[in-house]
Amino acid sequence: MHVTGPLSSRWTGYLGLLSALSAAFAPAVAVKEHDFKKCHQSGFCHRNRAFADHALGSTGWESPYHVDASSGSFHDGQYQAVILKTINDGAETVRLPLTISFHESGTARVTVDEEKRQKGEIELRHESKARKERYNGAEEWVVVGGTTLDKEAKVGYEDKTQVTVKYGPASKFEATIKLSPFSIDFKRDGHSQVRFNDQGLLNVEHWRPKIEQPEPEKAEGESAEESQESPVIQTEEQPQGEDQSTWWDETFGGNTDSKPRGPESIGLDISFVGFEHVFGIPSHASSLSLKQTRGGEGNYEEPYRMYNADVFEYILDSPMTLYGAIPLMQAHRKDSSAGVFWLNAAETWVDITKAKETKNPLSLGSSKARTNTHTHWFSESGLLDVFVFLGPTPQDLTAQYGELTGTTAMPQEFALGHHQCRWNYVSDDDVKDVDRKMDKARLPYDVIWLDIEYTDEKKYFTWDKHSFTDPVGMGEQLDEHGRNLVVIIDPHIKNVANYDVVAELKAQELGVQDKKGNLFEGWCWPGSSHWIDAFSPKAREWWASLFRYDRFVGTLPNTHIWNDMNEPSVFNGPETTMPKDNLHAGGWEHRDVHNLNGMTFHNATYHALVTRREGEADRRPFVLTRSFFAGSQRVGAMWTGDNQAAWDHLQVSIPMILSQGISGFPFSGADVGGFFGNPDKDLLTRWYQAGAFYPFFRAHAHIDARRREPYLIGEPYTTIIGAALRLRYSLLPSWYTAFRHAHLDGTPIIKPLFYTHPASESSLAIDDQFFLGTTGLLSKPVTSPGQTTVDIFIPDSEIYYDYFTYSIPPTAKGKHVTLDAPLESIPLLMRGGHVFARRDIPRRSSALMRWDPYTLVVAAPRKATDTAEGDLYVDDGDSFEYQQGQYIHRRFLFDGAAGSLTSTDYNGREATSEKEEGEWLSKMRSVNVDKIVVVGVPGSWKGKTSVKVESEGRTWEARVEVTPAEGRRAGFAVVRKVGVPVGGDWRVVF
Ligand code: GLC
Repeated sequence: MHVTGPLSSRWTGYLGLLSALSAAFAPAVAVKEHDFKKCHQSGFCHRNRAFADHALGSTGWESPYHVDASSGSFHDGQYQAVILKTINDGAETVRLPLTISFHESGTARVTVDEEKRQKGEIELRHESKARKERYNGAEEWVVVGGTTLDKEAKVGYEDKTQVTVKYGPASKFEATIKLSPFSIDFKRDGHSQVRFNDQGLLNVEHWRPKIEQPEPEKAEGESAEESQESPVIQTEEQPQGEDQSTWWDETFGGNTDSKPRGPESIGLDISFVGFEHVFGIPSHASSLSLKQTRGGEGNYEEPYRMYNADVFEYILDSPMTLYGAIPLMQAHRKDSSAGVFWLNAAETWVDITKAKETKNPLSLGSSKARTNTHTHWFSESGLLDVFVFLGPTPQDLTAQYGELTGTTAMPQEFALGHHQCRWNYVSDDDVKDVDRKMDKARLPYDVIWLDIEYTDEKKYFTWDKHSFTDPVGMGEQLDEHGRNLVVIIDPHIKNVANYDVVAELKAQELGVQDKKGNLFEGWCWPGSSHWIDAFSPKAREWWASLFRYDRFVGTLPNTHIWNDMNEPSVFNGPETTMPKDNLHAGGWEHRDVHNLNGMTFHNATYHALVTRREGEADRRPFVLTRSFFAGSQRVGAMWTGDNQAAWDHLQVSIPMILSQGISGFPFSGADVGGFFGNPDKDLLTRWYQAGAFYPFFRAHAHIDARRREPYLIGEPYTTIIGAALRLRYSLLPSWYTAFRHAHLDGTPIIKPLFYTHPASESSLAIDDQFFLGTTGLLSKPVTSPGQTTVDIFIPDSEIYYDYFTYSIPPTAKGKHVTLDAPLESIPLLMRGGHVFARRDIPRRSSALMRWDPYTLVVAAPRKATDTAEGDLYVDDGDSFEYQQGQYIHRRFLFDGAAGSLTSTDYNGREATSEKEEGEWLSKMRSVNVDKIVVVGVPGSWKGKTSVKVESEGRTWEARVEVTPAEGRRAGFAVVRKVGVPVGGDWRVVF
């Protein structure tokens, strides 16, 4: 599908294929779907679904997993036992060691291994060199904290059939472990929240030797190809779920997976009791609230799939896999949240069904029957390893998950600016020209990007000698305007003579190996290529050496990196990726680690950048990745891959980015304008307006797309886009503050309503509007053509002001309010009760705003005597010195009753002495809050002309202009020349 020759673009190849097929088949989208497995084409998916059908369809089904009661013990916050799986009609059992750990952080963890594989007592087929154990290395890559055992956890009750452990804050959580059959019920305050194996779908495919059987006969008329492609053969004699046809090898798209360890999948049902909505498991081009997957109207037929893949031009409203995966699912209902994190990096599928609880007809009371969400998870190999979070709030969940897998790296401040990319800027002159034209059109931007064509024939770490003759000059011009360059570096290394990088990779054996242990070779952009094995410490060390300034000549400190194709994308591989029986460092099969692959490469690049030269470790790297896993947030940003210049792609970008946010990886964006195709002017304009609210804000376009830098599009569009860009830039202080919170405790940067208003049942499924950080700014981008109004859902009874006009729309809790939204306007409301910071002087880039004064905006609460609150975080935006306290974090409190606004240290720190101050902090002494705008001032402020300012022992008066309310427009006051230091304590009395 991907390439017909080494240098042809996939688009061209794809078009050819498409036109050949279009006569015979339906629409384009179907073609791409066929390149990727459906559940019935994935052996273990089919087997686990069949197992579920059998279990759920038989009366009296009993799960064959029983805890050996004599094996159980509990100490130091851990329950250990052996689960016995009964096989061969009860004649034999398989021993599966079980560990349930209770952590001080309030999470619980359930791990199931398989004794025989653990001890290496199995035989591998095909003389494979793979490891024998179930993969147990995911933890090393993913988990960074939160696993200290809870010594206070204790057995609350125990008899021959069950053990109940009390744990968590104030022992409010409990886990009841039923021994026979094995199941666990996790409760909070005595009520079930999450249940494991409640439906009996636990399935650990144990090791067994292959017993040679006669080949199944081919059906008449079936071609050899067809019989190969269809793995599913279910004969009458086989017990359900024991379909052996895909145990020993499996073929898809002409590629055969040799499966040296035989069948090894794990499956488990996880029920969320009383929860109607579940969220997470990104990335899917779908709604935020996940859909049911077992058919029925409006539901999917296929499970959600997580198998990182280069699914270019992906289809929408689909559970199909995309480029990255985070196996974290959360369930929310009014005032309650719970979640699970499935720590497994192999191919994984999740089925979701919802069912009304059958009410006991004899029970009294009028309470409605609850809906339960049943999820069924299965992975192809590895340990069963699941963390359970019992909330009770969405904030608890993101914080606990953040503690476990790490939080968003504090980014370089420039990374929050506007990024201009395309495939490709064709020369260093082209780059310099775009840079100049952006300035001429007064379009602020921070970063310009170079795609693969800057290299000498796709050899990374080189420059095309003809078109990039002076990369240093280019980098320097950018630097003069405070701008940065990002260049792409992919994980495939061109297999060609006279290329030092590939020569080193080969000589030092740093590449991924094929199943025989030879260097794996496949095809990607450069044609024949090898892949760095970033699982190997030696390979990572080598990788780091390639980025040193004396090695990657032409790069400067303002050069940063884009990692693409790291799923990995292999054009001629199964499902456009690596064969599963390829081998990585330590002898692990690619099958075991596939979903981690992208993260290990991203991580290698991050560490390479901090060691570019001595002293460079002081600067925060910026690395964008396409593929990711749980933990990737610690090293950079992601984007949603190859979307299209179409309105529905703009639409889906919002739930996709929200889903990233609640799943611990909020530094995310979608290609503004759409990657494939040419957006019309309205679409491009609306996309910039939406993009101004993506945490990662980058315009990008395919090589065949027409140039579309915003200065080219013409009036009034350029001006309208310029206004969106300036809105982004003026709000950068608030964006940066939101990143600080994400960094501290895993809070999303743009927040869906269930997160900000967990008590509102009706807002749970809303995924087209969101709040920005702590600002109270409520945004709902326009995502449909010709749309001139927008209906915003209002989740509470606070007052809301239009951001631009200060008018007060007639809002009511739980109802939509309609706002005018002609092309030139961005629907944006300010919720009463918040204070947020801006920088109002328009500049060309964020670096040029570094010492600019701040504006504070107070959106007064509905009730005049209530308070409004907010905060502002500032650091040098570049180094790691913030870790040594070199930062400013202020808390602002507007007290309606006292008529005052105060600024105090957010963490209650004492004022820093001059001695403790680094260069940046000391320079910030002269940066002021110069303007305060209060929106929604009471009528009594009319006629006020001055306010009292107190700061650092001094008191003075500043001028205030009060504009009384008129019609729907709120009254507002503007104080100018306030003159208080942004980093100091102060008070303004109105
Ligand atoms: C992939 C990326 C895309 C990039 C292209 C060429 O398709 O997703 O963003 O432009 O490769 O490098």
